[in-house]
Amino acid sequence: MNQPVHCPAKIEINEVAPRDGLQIEAQFVPTEAKIRWIDALSTTGLRRIEATSFTSPKAIPNLRDAAEVVTAIQRRDGVDITVLVPNVKGTERALACQVDEINLVMSASNSHGLANLRMTPEQSLAQFATILEVCQGSGVFINASLSTTFGCPFEGKVPETRVLSLVEQLIGLGIQGVTLCDTTGMANPAQVKQLCEAVLERWPATPFTLHFHNTRGMGLANALAAWQAGITRFDASLGGLGGCPFAPGASGNVCTEDLVHMFEEMGVDTGVDLDALLEVAANLPELIGHKVPGQVVKAGKSNRRYPMPAK
Ligand code: COA
Ligand code: ZN
Repeated sequence: MNQPVHCPAKIEINEVAPRDGLQIEAQFVPTEAKIRWIDALSTTGLRRIEATSFTSPKAIPNLRDAAEVVTAIQRRDGVDITVLVPNVKGTERALACQVDEINLVMSASNSHGLANLRMTPEQSLAQFATILEVCQGSGVFINASLSTTFGCPFEGKVPETRVLSLVEQLIGLGIQGVTLCDTTGMANPAQVKQLCEAVLERWPATPFTLHFHNTRGMGLANALAAWQAGITRFDASLGGLGGCPFAPGASGNVCTEDLVHMFEEMGVDTGVDLDALLEVAANLPELIGHKVPGQVVKAGKSNRRYPMPAK
């Protein structure tokens, strides 16, 4: 298949269902079940798993068992454990659990920053400067996720110049990787292509990850546009679970098994054993107590064949 020159032959996936997925669920998933689930996910070839968040248990009660989960899961070579962290207190809790990566979170827009974190983007940046000092010498990779990069449910469009300025400030502080998040599925492929090309051109040495929600059915199209611009790192969520509880109208992330299926069908190496991943995905409705949006687990892979109808 002929692809444009930028299109990478290989991508890597950060599985965010244990964090982005569970944070918005109506029911608490018992700690033991979370641990078994993350252990199963870590055998499927995923490069990274966002196992939980070290947030206020009042803000995100479903992840109040973060420390228990992270200390009990099996650690495997080649699978980094990352955790979402909003502030210094979360950083200290995460470092105590020997995580591989800390994924700091802030918003590109004021309103979502205040609704989600009670911090403006500027206050988050100030907090991150302290966090980087706290993490010095720890060897932990420090990533930052920029929520509402592609649009804010309160304010609408976030100017690209603002996003680029925030990315510049993050990198200037010493943040090692940046995730551009479409928190409520407002991005479109043309916008994604333009921003991805801009950041890759300006900061070629920085690992950029793209985080899409499928709220308006554009998740896979946006992932494809990002890949065509040269992006190799994606967040995705098993079953298509997910959403920010403090972003009205939020719904699930782009579905991991559907994303893997799409890229593998196109000949792009995801590193993931899709059959193994589909087995874990098949057990998801039982784990969380309801159906999930993922498509491939229901339809089967595109090589599924049916018998001809009887005459
Ligand atoms: N982990 C655990 N507890 C924390 C914490 C953390 N990272 N940060 C703050 N707390 C506790 C404080 O100790 C305090 O506890 P107390 O009431 O028992 O004294 C309480 O939370 C309030 O602390 P404060 O610093 O005033 O925080 P806040 O109420 O202004 O909330 C955040 C700010 C960032 C901690 C909170 O909004 C949060 O955790 N948000 C996460 C949102 C999220 O994960 N959204 C989805 C992902 S995008
Ligand atoms: Zn998200």
